[in-house]
Amino acid sequence: MATYTSADDIDRAEVAALYGLGRLTLEPLGGGAANSSFKVTASQDTFVLTILDNHDHASACRLALHTEAMFKLGMPTAEVVRNAEGDAVSTLSDRPVLLKRWIPGRVAGQLTDDLLRDAGGLLARLHDAPAVQVSDLPVGTRRLSPSHLEAIDGFADREFAEWLKSGLAKVRAQEDRLRDRPVVCHGDVFADNLIARPDGTLAIIDWETISLDSALLDLGMTLLGLANVHGRLDKRRADLIVSGYMDWSRELANGKPQDHASSVR
Ligand SMILES: Nc1ncnc2c1ncn2[C@@H]1O[C@H](COP(=O)(O)OP(=O)(O)O)[C@@H](O)[C@H]1O
Ligand SMILES: [Mg+2]
Repeated sequence: MATYTSADDIDRAEVAALYGLGRLTLEPLGGGAANSSFKVTASQDTFVLTILDNHDHASACRLALHTEAMFKLGMPTAEVVRNAEGDAVSTLSDRPVLLKRWIPGRVAGQLTDDLLRDAGGLLARLHDAPAVQVSDLPVGTRRLSPSHLEAIDGFADREFAEWLKSGLAKVRAQEDRLRDRPVVCHGDVFADNLIARPDGTLAIIDWETISLDSALLDLGMTLLGLANVHGRLDKRRADLIVSGYMDWSRELANGKPQDHASSVR
C-alpha cells in the first residue's frame, strides 16, 4: 500500500532547483487514485508534479517514456518536462517524480454528447498509432490473470460466478472470430483521465495502464468508464462513443483524418 504525499511533504525550493524554476506554489489535485499530483504555478509556466508513490525508478522511467512517446505521436496529452540534468524522472525524498506541462481545461466529469463522440475518436486515433514507436509496451496487462480466473470458481455468489464465466466465454468467442491485431491501448479512459479543453476537445492523460492488446477490450473499458450511469450501461452514451470511434476509424482507413480540432495540438 502506498503512502501518499501531501503538499507539506514537498520542498518547493528543491523542486524549483531541480527544474530550473523560480518561486512556485503547489496545490493538491484530486482525481488520481494511485499517485499524488500537484498543480505547480511558477513564473515560467504552470505544470503538474506527480509523486509516483506506487512506482520504483524503473517503472517511473517507463511511464515517462510512454507519456513522451504518446506526445510525440501527436496524441493530445501532457508533455513531460525534463529536469535541469535532462532526466525525465527526478527523485524527491526517495520517491520518483514527473513534471508535466499543465493542460488548461477541466477534468471532464459527466461528458457531453460531443465529448463522448470525441472520446471515441481519440480512442480510434490511439488504436491507429504505430506500436513499434512505443518502446517497452507491456502486452495483455488489462486481462484477468490465470489466478483471477481460478478464483471465480470459489466465489460464494454462484449466480454471479456463472454469469461471469458465460460472459467471458462469449467474449473469447468474439475475440477468436475477430482475430483483431493488437493495438496500443490506454486501458483507463475514465473521466478523471480526460481534460475538457477550452476549445471543446479532449486531452487524455495518465498512461500508467498502456498496453498492447485488443481494441475491443480498450473500447469496452472506455464504455465502462464513460457510459456507466449508476452502475448500468447507458446505451445512448455507449452509442455516441462507438459512433465517434467508427467515424474516426473510417476516416483513418480512407487515409484522410477528419478536420477535427483534437487532431491539432
Ligand atoms: N497535465 C495535466 N494538466 C491538467 N491536469 C492534470 C494534468 N495531469 C494530471 N492532472 C490532474 O491530476 C489528476 C491525477 O493525474 P493522473 O496523471 O491521472 O494521476 P493518477 O495516476 O493519480 O490517476 C487528474 O485527474 C487531473 O485532474
Ligand atoms: Mg489518473
